[in-house]
Amino acid sequence: MTTARVALVTGGIGGIGTAICQRLAKDGMRVIANHHPSEQEAASAWKNDQAGAGFEIHTIAADVSSFDDCARMVADIKEAHGPVAVLVNCAGITRDKTFKKMEEAQWRAVIDVNLNSVFNVTRNVWEDMLEAGFGRIVNISSVNGQRGQFGQANYAAAKAGMHGITMSLAQEGAAKGITANTVSPGYVETAMTLAMRDDVREAIIAGVPMRRMGKPEEIASAVSFLTAEANGYVTGANLPVNGGLFMH
Ligand code: CAA
Repeated sequence: MTTARVALVTGGIGGIGTAICQRLAKDGMRVIANHHPSEQEAASAWKNDQAGAGFEIHTIAADVSSFDDCARMVADIKEAHGPVAVLVNCAGITRDKTFKKMEEAQWRAVIDVNLNSVFNVTRNVWEDMLEAGFGRIVNISSVNGQRGQFGQANYAAAKAGMHGITMSLAQEGAAKGITANTVSPGYVETAMTLAMRDDVREAIIAGVPMRRMGKPEEIASAVSFLTAEANGYVTGANLPVNGGLFMH
């Protein structure tokens, strides 16, 4: 009997995170969804909903912008489930503002949660992956990290930075059985895109060659591919899942 790989999905109870958790559970992994400590109630309800839908997914609170909290989270997971073999860095926020109006707090919040979190979590699982001789890391970036976006200097910087980490980890992990890849979603049907002004969102969708937003499951499918044992030769890639919005 083989034991299921332990998969940690940060921002796991969000729109894209939920689809990723469900997909990795279907793939046979033991999935742990991270959420912010302030979301305890929502996370309990989410866990029940998942159970109702037939998914046994564990939840764990941690502020991914805090290195110490991430160290504690990873240690708790290790004790309860074993070392993390698959890590999906999916936690992210927006604080959209034209650059002229952007305040330092909005810059820092996005860099902390979207980019520094990748260091905070990955650094704490990296040595276990090295020791196991196996690891799958997927960083959920964005089309806007590849092309920039009006009103998102903070977000675009963080999302572009994520792929820089990916490429470095891919090189350091290559001979050790660890792959690191980025998935860059376009505009996906989630609370994050719903929070945009309707006219701005409509204008963006009109510019997507497929004329629609992506579905969370379509992002999860890419993550499933990149975390599969069979795809161990794919590393350092940045896989766009954007309906044709940006090609390079
Ligand atoms: N390019 C050039 N000029 C633009 C522009 C664009 N894309 N968008 C707006 N402008 C111009 C406007 O025409 C306007 O010009 P005037 O002052 O001459 O009239 C000026 O810039 C101000 O525009 P807004 O009215 O939009 O400014 P605002 O302050 O009300 O809003 C904003 C600013 C909230 C940042 C808004 O522009 C916005 O929502 N932008 C989109 C941000 C975005 O795409 N967020 C994605 C969230 S989802 C996500 O992030 C997930 C993911 O990974 C894709």
